[in-house]
Amino acid sequence: MVSSEAAPYAKTGGLADVVGALPYALQQLGHEVAVLIPRYRSTFRYATRRVTGPFQVQLGPYPWYPSVFTTEQPSPFYFLDLPDFYDRDGIYNDRSGEFGDNDLRFGMLSLATFHFARYHFRPDILHCHDWQGGLVPAYFKLWFAGDPAFLGAKTVETIHNLGYQGLFPRSSIIRVGLPEWLYRQDLLEFHGGISLLKSGLVYADAITTVSPHYAEETQTPEFGYGLDGLLRARKAQLTGILNGVDYSQWNPATDPHIPSNYSVEDLSGKAVCKRELLNEFGLSHAPQDRPVIGIVSRLTGQKGADLILEVAPYLFREDVYMVVLGSGEPYFEGMFRHIRDTNPGRVGLRLGYDDALAHRVEAGSDIFLMPSRYEPCGLNQIYSLKYGTVPVVRATGGLDDTIDGETGFKFWEYSGYALLLALEDCLRAWKDTDRWTKMMRTGMTRDFSWMTSALQYDSLFRTLLHP
Ligand code: ADP
Ligand code: GLC
Repeated sequence: MVSSEAAPYAKTGGLADVVGALPYALQQLGHEVAVLIPRYRSTFRYATRRVTGPFQVQLGPYPWYPSVFTTEQPSPFYFLDLPDFYDRDGIYNDRSGEFGDNDLRFGMLSLATFHFARYHFRPDILHCHDWQGGLVPAYFKLWFAGDPAFLGAKTVETIHNLGYQGLFPRSSIIRVGLPEWLYRQDLLEFHGGISLLKSGLVYADAITTVSPHYAEETQTPEFGYGLDGLLRARKAQLTGILNGVDYSQWNPATDPHIPSNYSVEDLSGKAVCKRELLNEFGLSHAPQDRPVIGIVSRLTGQKGADLILEVAPYLFREDVYMVVLGSGEPYFEGMFRHIRDTNPGRVGLRLGYDDALAHRVEAGSDIFLMPSRYEPCGLNQIYSLKYGTVPVVRATGGLDDTIDGETGFKFWEYSGYALLLALEDCLRAWKDTDRWTKMMRTGMTRDFSWMTSALQYDSLFRTLLHP
């Protein structure tokens, strides 16, 4: 596998959760798996053992000399070390914005994959994630498909989010060492530049995305981000495989980050989690007999923050609290500051990234809010189910596939009005203790373990290798 993120080593969102867990599930099915991610500064403390290198990788006009590291204890995770590219604080950007050489950084990751794989073991499947792995299928088809080390191998491109396409100027084709003739509308060209995600979608033998519903949506102009035509054309090779949950990390019965463990048999610890959460967010005098609405999110246009702003004046007429953990675009951070400031004593806000706190918000909230504009899969709503925190979601992508009327509340139209109606339904249900407890328990017993998803990847890989 080739990815830019893998939990716990490097994470900005759900991609990391997926790549951090799927390899282990595939191993349980008997697969041999190696995952290559960059050796960012954040991974130094894990990636301590050098396994190979320096070896030469010719990326465009320049030779580079990366090495590969792994963890102290054997694991499927390997880290591409090239300090000029990866020894930085951020994964994609720093405070001054996106790094200007992300084409080279992830072009290098994709190309070095072949040099590492040749050394490590002969792969049957090269599984690439998002635009950062999108050049792997192109390099493969152009240069490596006839190489004895890769003979018969197949490539799979997984779309985690069509909203991020790896867009670069036309000149990047040469920078990443590819021939200029790939600048064609049916190949890498995209609105006057190139798209590395498109490279993956054009050249991969199979395409997957992270829920069945999103697989359908990606083929429509509304969700396709300009790639819907290509995805319609490749429909026969496109499958939606729902993500799983790593219950070794997300389980209230064993979670070390929450103040009191609880389970479907004994829910009493959840009240402790709620009290502590309100304390932690400075709402310590809050009466406990009111529901807490939790949000953990990247703060981007995708996640529906504008709808929350729209409903806030009406929502806070009810006796509710809201607790928000998020980081992202300044515009949306400002939006949540405004919601906090206009509803004193009702809203707890933490702007930043804090994994342990994300667990405590899941555990301490009664309701989890995810009104996404689009959502390829979404993991937090599935974590919420396990934590007995009833989700209110927009019925799109994976949110629609994972939540139903027995476990949560859905709305369809992307409007504040539709969200408000769903929230009001939810608040009514909360007042009916029996109904609410039943919903919590039903959600907690739903099973989204990785094995179900891994079996689908397994079957896809087998079909590719033995059609
Ligand atoms: P996406 O990948 O689009 O951000 P997902 O729901 O698939 O959405 O996954 C988000 C992951 O990132 C979850 O594990 C969630 O807990 C985590 N996360 C998002 N924002 C934060 C934050 N501010 N602090 C800690 N964890 C966060
Ligand atoms: C993306 C999507 C999210 C999905 C995650 C993991 O970041 O936005 O919906 O759950 O990838 O596949």
